[in-house]
Amino acid sequence: MGQLDGKTAIVTGGAEGIGVSYAKALTAEGAQVAIWDVVSCDDTVAAITASGGRALGLTCDVSDPAQVAAALKATQEAFGGVHILVNNAAVFARLYQKPFEDITTAEFDKALAVNVRGPFECVKAVSPIMRAQNYGKIINIASGTAFKGTAGMMHYVASKGAVISMTRSMANELGKDGINVNCIAPGLVMTDAILAREGMEDFRQGSAAGRFLKKLQTPEDLTGTLVFLASPASDFITGQIIVVDGGAAMH
Ligand SMILES: NC(=O)c1ccc[n+]([C@@H]2O[C@H](COP(=O)([O-])OP(=O)(O)OC[C@H]3O[C@@H](n4cnc5c(N)ncnc54)[C@H](O)[C@@H]3O)[C@@H](O)[C@H]2O)c1
Repeated sequence: MGQLDGKTAIVTGGAEGIGVSYAKALTAEGAQVAIWDVVSCDDTVAAITASGGRALGLTCDVSDPAQVAAALKATQEAFGGVHILVNNAAVFARLYQKPFEDITTAEFDKALAVNVRGPFECVKAVSPIMRAQNYGKIINIASGTAFKGTAGMMHYVASKGAVISMTRSMANELGKDGINVNCIAPGLVMTDAILAREGMEDFRQGSAAGRFLKKLQTPEDLTGTLVFLASPASDFITGQIIVVDGGAAMH
């Protein structure tokens, strides 16, 4: 028996990167998972199905409320109610580091539209369903960069600071209806995209050296916390930001 048997989860941005591991971890605990992404989710869905799990891939730009509404409708038609929402999609791996004065207005607006307004649109869409159930687990994904003020990606750092604040405000408004809203702030995670990026070896090794637990962080370092926040074990926790980075950022 899994901790999430009978539950339906949505993982945004689950086609690539850490979201793949989130979707796999939730299905391994018995949840059925809808993966919403702007690129094909076929590989993630195939891997989950091959392991005996249930997953559905849907094309959805989380910053477009019409696409969010369509993806939610398709999710409900396939799986019924929505119990867990993981707001993981973000403009991240394709960002290139640059001084903040070189960030264009369009780049700034895009980061905020996907990373902040995206989770807002998704929570706004699922909240009526979760309120009606008097049950829901919303997990927003921020970043340790918001605590460190990491240089070279100011728009991204600002967006993750907003995700932290938004988590607290949403938790406050949704608590009376039995909905938990929490947030995970990962450190630098060795996804395929981060490992493939040239000229970043010092940065990668620096991330391991700069934390109490001296190792590179993998996506699987996050899945235990994710499942905990999605499960009944965390039923009396809300509005919290859990930094999962081996002891690099403190707050
Ligand atoms: N990898 C890290 O080091 C790290 C560290 C801290 C926080 N995070 C956060 O973790 C999450 C996942 O990070 P990642 O490294 O896997 O990122 P990634 O860039 O590799 O993957 C992001 C996923 O989101 C999807 N996506 C992008 N824009 C979208 C949109 N408008 N609508 C729907 N899907 C969209 C992408 O297609 C991709 O599948 C992000 O929120 C990121 O900010 C990552």
